[in-house]
Amino acid sequence: MLRRPPLTLAALTVFAGGCAWNGPMSTVVPGSDFNRSILHVYTIITVATAIIGALVFVVLGYVLVRFRTRPDAPLPAQIRGHTLLELSWTIMPALVLLIIAIPTIQIVFRTQTQGAAPAALRVIVRGWQWWWQFEYPELGVVTANELHLPVGRTITIDLEGPDVIHSFWVPHLGGKRDVVPGRHNRLVLIPETPGEHWGQCAEFCGTSHANMRMRVIVQAAADFDAWVAQQKATPPEPTGLAADGKSVFSRSACVGCHTIAGVSAGVLAPNLTHFGSRTTLAAGLWPNTPENVAAWVRHPQALKPGVKMPDLGLTDEQAKAVAAYLTSLK
Ligand code: CUA
Repeated sequence: MLRRPPLTLAALTVFAGGCAWNGPMSTVVPGSDFNRSILHVYTIITVATAIIGALVFVVLGYVLVRFRTRPDAPLPAQIRGHTLLELSWTIMPALVLLIIAIPTIQIVFRTQTQGAAPAALRVIVRGWQWWWQFEYPELGVVTANELHLPVGRTITIDLEGPDVIHSFWVPHLGGKRDVVPGRHNRLVLIPETPGEHWGQCAEFCGTSHANMRMRVIVQAAADFDAWVAQQKATPPEPTGLAADGKSVFSRSACVGCHTIAGVSAGVLAPNLTHFGSRTTLAAGLWPNTPENVAAWVRHPQALKPGVKMPDLGLTDEQAKAVAAYLTSLK
């Protein structure tokens, strides 16, 4: 009999531990003006519904006790068609809905303003099965799965979908917004908290939907500028094993899908020109280490089910060389 409670407690601890309120995917950790606005509405709704709930339960309790059946109690007054009551329970919910609707609609419009702010940084986000492409058209930078943003600057995110519907969602930075083929959606926000924020595709888009993750790195303007300069520079010419890897890469099917500036120009898969500067592999799924990259190019399906990248039939040696090359591309 005594064994169950500790077990239940342990299970509850594990369960609650998985739901840390301030985790990397928490919606109540505001990292942008957008998320702060959402939290504001969330607080209004929570407080308002708590007050309404408390009132309803007090009235309910009173009615249950006051008008309960007693042996010699008379039948309470029977009311039908009370104009004042009817009006009040129509007007009061309407007022509550209005209080919730006004800030909600304001935020919806403000965060998808079509006329871009003049000093805004524009990023085109494309959702692909199952990875994210980030293009900075004014800066001439294209990267994947790790979005760098300067803190405190207005960011205009244009969402485009080349294949199926995805949804761009970085909880610290705000609400979800769908990426729909043939449609132009926009998200405008100002990142406020430097650091790494995690994101995830939030619309079921096929086999590896759950593995369509991203990282957003919000950094000081100077650090962001340094990152841009690095992304625009040509990576150093590889030597040794990495040079062997470059030659394997150039002779393989890799070049049909991936771009590496000066080496290949494929557009169906992530741009790898500065792959070594990214911290993760396969859309935020694995740490970007030479061992993981070698395992990835050897059998991508084993690391990410459904991935569009085919098994290229590389030997272990070739995979190691390609991994050395790709991780050298800083
Ligand atoms: Cu892309 Cu789910």
